[in-house]
Amino acid sequence: MVINKTKPSVVIAGRVLPVVREHLEATTSVTQFEDLSGSNTQLLEKALQTAEGLLATASLTVTADLLDKAPQLKVISQPSVGVDNIDLAACSARKIPVGHTPGVLVEATADIAFGLLLSAARRIPESWNFVCSGAWGQGQSFPFGIDLYGKTLGIVGLGSIGVAVAKRAQASGLKIIYHNRHRRKDEDTVKATYVTFDELLAQSDFVLVMLPLTKESTHLFSAQQFAKMKRTAYLINAARGKVVDSDALYNALKAGEIAFAAMDVTDPEPLPADHKLLTLKNILVTPHIGSATHETRDVMARLAVKNLLEGLKGQTLPACANKEANF
Ligand code: DGY
Repeated sequence: MVINKTKPSVVIAGRVLPVVREHLEATTSVTQFEDLSGSNTQLLEKALQTAEGLLATASLTVTADLLDKAPQLKVISQPSVGVDNIDLAACSARKIPVGHTPGVLVEATADIAFGLLLSAARRIPESWNFVCSGAWGQGQSFPFGIDLYGKTLGIVGLGSIGVAVAKRAQASGLKIIYHNRHRRKDEDTVKATYVTFDELLAQSDFVLVMLPLTKESTHLFSAQQFAKMKRTAYLINAARGKVVDSDALYNALKAGEIAFAAMDVTDPEPLPADHKLLTLKNILVTPHIGSATHETRDVMARLAVKNLLEGLKGQTLPACANKEANF
């Protein structure tokens, strides 16, 4: 006897690697909306009415309202560690587990965070421009940077990515201080010294932001914090753009209250080419590429698929952002 069992319906909201769709299509019926603007919003909502799974991306905001339009939803999965675009409390209230991808992007993201620090300190982008513009050999002076060796890196939010950055920084002779809500028990192994937030701002030559975006961390870095930093300090943000108040950052950089900002994340994101931050010389911005390597994005995609498929079967998700709702 042939049992004709309908495949569960899954919505993919946004752009994902082809491997995601390929894997999902083997066992589910997939509807994808790459572009989430205009009339696609209504089409997406319509598709969600019968969807059992949602493969989300950061371009979709998942609110309680949207969840109410998706009464069959059993699981949400997103190929990222940060899920600040998803109302986790609303998902938990509806017993919908949210899969994410912690761990697998630690090394790639740490490379970008440290790469930004090094590039900014040693003026690598300006040096490249100097060569490309033909200024080299024309008697003009090239941009000098600053030493890393002997300086202090303050990490705000010393989690697994922060620890991986600390290792890279220690190899370059930087001393590590950090501030977390809860002091780490493994400070001796990590070789990082706990300080208060204000002490970190006052003592650091480089301040690295590695915090998840929450209500508490939104605009944690604003005019008051920049005023407490050294005038020679560099700010590096590889976490979420909204942890830093962009207007206050612009003012601090323009007034020379801090020396430089190197950021893989911005607010807004994408940062428009005519944004006032990009009129400054003392800034370096990359387009949120922390996890953007072939290997890392592939592993993230596969973990996101696994989370979704396990959720559809009512099984425990391998990595769940709202553990209270996990099966
Ligand atoms: C994440 O996974 O949260 C990274 O920022 C990449 O989006």
